[in-house]
Amino acid sequence: ATPDFRFDGRVAIVTGAGRGLGRAHALLLAERGAKVVVNDLGGTKEGDGSDSGPANDVVQEITAAGGVAVADTNNVGTEAGCHALVEGAVGAFGRIDIVVNNAGISRFATFPEADAENLERTLDVHLRGTWHTTRAAWPYMVEQGYGRVITTTSTGMFGLADNLAYATAKGALIGFTRSLAVEAASHGILVNCIAPNAITRPSTAAGKPNITTRQLDEARIQAMQTGLVSPMVAYLAHEDCKVNGEILVAGAHRFARWLLAVTPGYRSPGAEVPTVEEIAEHWDEINDESGYYVPANLHDWASTFMAHLNA
Ligand code: NAI
Repeated sequence: ATPDFRFDGRVAIVTGAGRGLGRAHALLLAERGAKVVVNDLGGTKEGDGSDSGPANDVVQEITAAGGVAVADTNNVGTEAGCHALVEGAVGAFGRIDIVVNNAGISRFATFPEADAENLERTLDVHLRGTWHTTRAAWPYMVEQGYGRVITTTSTGMFGLADNLAYATAKGALIGFTRSLAVEAASHGILVNCIAPNAITRPSTAAGKPNITTRQLDEARIQAMQTGLVSPMVAYLAHEDCKVNGEILVAGAHRFARWLLAVTPGYRSPGAEVPTVEEIAEHWDEINDESGYYVPANLHDWASTFMAHLNA
């Protein structure tokens, strides 16, 4: 039977699609009829160097399977590269419906070794790459009244000491996703974020599994294939999807929602300024997760804040 969720007539850009997760996203979108721009600079996992091989290989793979794709080797770590990528996509296929911001690098370093260069290079690819690529595609999406944008965060944002700039950039992408989603809705555009888990180049060293993957047996390694993340990306990229501004965790056969939530907290009863001691005394209440609240956006948050203010 023909699958219901197809992308015929749609054009997708997938950044960093020459390897890993991006490659899997590109293959699935192409298999379901999208015309895909396979962007990849082809550098090392730290982001050094370049190679047109990975992007070209994935395009060959898609074409051999009967799909439509073009390779793009622009560096999304520069604003000019992001613009050239989007203009190339429109030049090749006439429109742009889907942007999957996936390209990423990993430059392991903790404080104080994580210096300005580490921070900037990491922000350039993850944050600025997502920002500029999406911004370049935006006028086309607004003009056609339709678009799907996917960003890529990481559960590293929960707290990853040895890759500080990476976790910082991934945190920034959550603010970007949620805020752009608010602006996007009236234009028929949806913006969502994926938090993947899969074994790829950054989780391996010199072709050998690193500390994390070394402990995994073959079955578990299979369960961490990149293709097990892509169905969620394709769902978020589809026109039937109504989800906006959400963060979805995907990997190893599990798909889940990542919540940004606030506890009900402690309300000081008096009219005076609460004391520091009061904070200490009510710490458990401040942290109690029961009855937590999940704001849809700042507007939603503000209405409950006003209720609290007026209470
Ligand atoms: P990967 O290293 O296998 O693939 C990333 C691709 O992006 C590479 O082919 C690389 O050449 C390309 N790329 C890097 N910088 C680029 C640039 N400036 N311009 C164009 N292309 C560039 O890594 P993986 O794991 O597939 O990562 C994909 C995304 O998923 C990244 O954003 C990563 O941070 C994120 N992620 C991955 C997780 C995992 O479990 N593998 C966990 C959490 C997040």
